[in-house]
Amino acid sequence: MYSDKVLEHFQNPHNQGQIPDASGIGEVGNPACGDTMKIYLKVKSDGSDNIDNHIIEDIKFETLGCGAAIASTSMLTDLVKGKTIKQALGISKQDVADSLGGLPKPKVHCSV
Ligand code: FES
Repeated sequence: MYSDKVLEHFQNPHNQGQIPDASGIGEVGNPACGDTMKIYLKVKSDGSDNIDNHIIEDIKFETLGCGAAIASTSMLTDLVKGKTIKQALGISKQDVADSLGGLPKPKVHCSV
């Protein structure tokens, strides 16, 4: 049912935890299944408003949810780390699912 990559990220999630001095924290929940996700970002800025110059130096997450949601968040953090804000905004749910070797159809919403 799940790819080896999904199982790997579920069993050993990358970048799990908190960043105490985070530049920003985002939290979202899925009312349909009750899963919640919190993401901490540490962003290095050059002081300008140009998101091409703001680099995500560190990212951590706390996800309370299913295995696919945990694996998706873990993969997302790998995809985002070291990217500029502009590059990170270009990452789609499909990119996350593809990087995990695909998700079973009923679990595609977990990558959103
Ligand atoms: Fe809701 Fe996976 S079942 S995010």
